[in-house]
Amino acid sequence: MFVIIKEDYDQMSLEGAKIVADRLRRKPNLVLGLATGSTPLGLYKELIRMHKNEGLDFSKVTTFNLDEYVGIPPEHDQSYHYFMKENLFKDLNLAPRFVHVPNGMAKDINTFCDWYEKRIKEFGGLDLQILGIGGNGHIAFNEPGSSLGSRTRVKTLDEKTLADNARFFDDETQVPKYAITMGVGTIMDAKEILLLANGEKKANAVKSAVEGPITAQCPASVVQLHQNVFVVVDKSAGSTLEGKYHDSWKRILFE
Ligand code: GLP
Repeated sequence: MFVIIKEDYDQMSLEGAKIVADRLRRKPNLVLGLATGSTPLGLYKELIRMHKNEGLDFSKVTTFNLDEYVGIPPEHDQSYHYFMKENLFKDLNLAPRFVHVPNGMAKDINTFCDWYEKRIKEFGGLDLQILGIGGNGHIAFNEPGSSLGSRTRVKTLDEKTLADNARFFDDETQVPKYAITMGVGTIMDAKEILLLANGEKKANAVKSAVEGPITAQCPASVVQLHQNVFVVVDKSAGSTLEGKYHDSWKRILFE
């Protein structure tokens, strides 16, 4: 696991974007796993800048998003479909048929989840999965207690996640209680993982994920078992880490 601690959010975002762009330049038909949340927004902005100013080409890229709320239509401004469209898809040259976000309105959700898993396999698996981390150590919507071998399925959201999400909805009763999420096992099958975190409120989760015991109580801790992981954090999110870490992946790999 490469842990990279950057000065601030912008530096964290640039470092993450450099990793994604590097993988994309090496493999134009990259299969990219995407995350929502405030954390990857800076990385997405940088990818858009690279696309517009440097010609970074997404036309052959396939994307799979980690999760989506159940019962919220794609046009809803709090759906993850909407989030991705507004914050990334509309500004890149992705081919719509290669873009996948779980369908929270699927009539038969279990069948949909099986299809999503199959679809990822059809494209040869995820090359690189971008992850944020919840304050309780969740990845995607794999809440504490999630099986570390789990696949795409419906999860009931944790009390903490509901409280964290309440700010995005008019009142608490509207906060969705269920989500479709890639499983921990699905995420672990990605060839590479890029986990981002910023801000003091993520410091405990980052500490547990990187230096704590591997436990379903902190689903993110499973990344310790993965062979190719970058954890890129800003100084605040990395403030409780005890190990000695790097500040650039290029230094780690090429110096
Ligand atoms: C949600 C998403 C996660 C994300 C987390 C953290 O729960 N399902 O994928 O990592 O929020 O969000 P933020 O980046 O806004 O802190």
